[in-house]
Amino acid sequence: MTMFVPPKNQGIEMWDGSRTGVHGAIDVFGADEAMESAKFNIKVRDIVKNYQDIYIDLPPRTNLLSAENVTKNFNRARGIAFLQSLSWFRKMSDFLDRLALHRYFTGLNDQANEIKPLSRIVQNLRIIKSTSEIKLMRQAGEITGKAFIETMRYTKPGLLEHDLYAKIDFECRTRGAEYLAYVPVVAGGPNALTMHYVSNNMPLRNGDMVLMDAGGEYHGYACDITRTWPVNGKFTGPQRELYEVVLKVNRECIKLCTEKHGISLNGIHDLSLKLMNEELAQLGFRLSEGELDRTLYPHHVGHYLGLDVHDTPDLDRSRKLKKGMVVTIEPGLYVPFKNEYPEQYQGIGIRIEDNVLVGETEPIILSVTAPKEVVDIQYCMANLEGWD
Ligand code: GLY
Ligand code: MN
Ligand code: MN
Repeated sequence: MTMFVPPKNQGIEMWDGSRTGVHGAIDVFGADEAMESAKFNIKVRDIVKNYQDIYIDLPPRTNLLSAENVTKNFNRARGIAFLQSLSWFRKMSDFLDRLALHRYFTGLNDQANEIKPLSRIVQNLRIIKSTSEIKLMRQAGEITGKAFIETMRYTKPGLLEHDLYAKIDFECRTRGAEYLAYVPVVAGGPNALTMHYVSNNMPLRNGDMVLMDAGGEYHGYACDITRTWPVNGKFTGPQRELYEVVLKVNRECIKLCTEKHGISLNGIHDLSLKLMNEELAQLGFRLSEGELDRTLYPHHVGHYLGLDVHDTPDLDRSRKLKKGMVVTIEPGLYVPFKNEYPEQYQGIGIRIEDNVLVGETEPIILSVTAPKEVVDIQYCMANLEGWD
């Protein structure tokens, strides 16, 4: 491992904070070799002579020229890091072009390096978590789970969705998370029917539920939990009936997250639709073929989780689950205001999302600290003791 780092510089460090410098890169990060970043081109030119293939992912040139991606693809917290990497990608791209031209004009093109994609190879390494990664993801789950407990306790009618956003952020950071892993959804009442609701600025009404999808990021690892709870601390009859359906599907799907079951996330998704259909029929829903996944439950049951919230996105969800994978299980129900659905359920949106470490014969729920049973949520919101 060769690291390229900015050199020590007293003047700059006075303003921006200290740098590890070249020696620190070896002492602190355990690099085999470290150099000032300005030496990057020379070193790479030297190295590539000895190898045929270069593995690197460069964004298309048009993306390199446009900073729009900052706002389109990244939240504000990531914006600066993205701008920095954009500048790096530009330099790298120019460098490889020059390298190719140089080889062409100097007659070395018969040994031209082949540029190959890196991302899938890395994603295949990332999909199975190491013991150290699992330790961090457990901590991320515990931090976020406890933050959910405090946020539930804090909830009352009249607060704004924004207040709960601030509360979960505070409770995650104060337990050691660096920041939230993504912009959370804090959706009171029917706002929960909007899947990517991030305005998070409406008052929470007595008698409504609130759906919160949030997760702390801990030492690079994302947590991704959703809970839905009553704003006033007590489920109404219809809220509870619908909630129990989602909870049952959540529990049944989690049970399948083992290597022994030989099932993929897509397989679990299909089963979740089947089960959800059966349960809804018992509540009086008369759904046509395909209506559930088109309207009431329009997203997938889960995704891989790790350094990114939607981790290893190029690896499809038809792979059989293997020990050491971490996935989310997040069934949801979102009932529109339409006469074809039982009136008492209209306007209710519920999702229950857990993070699950796939085991050989047993799943391990990393988000277990966040209450999800009806009695547990009500107990916790009544501020009764015993949650810490
Ligand atoms: N928070 C994004 C997701 O649940 O997939
Ligand atoms: Mn998720
Ligand atoms: Mn989520």
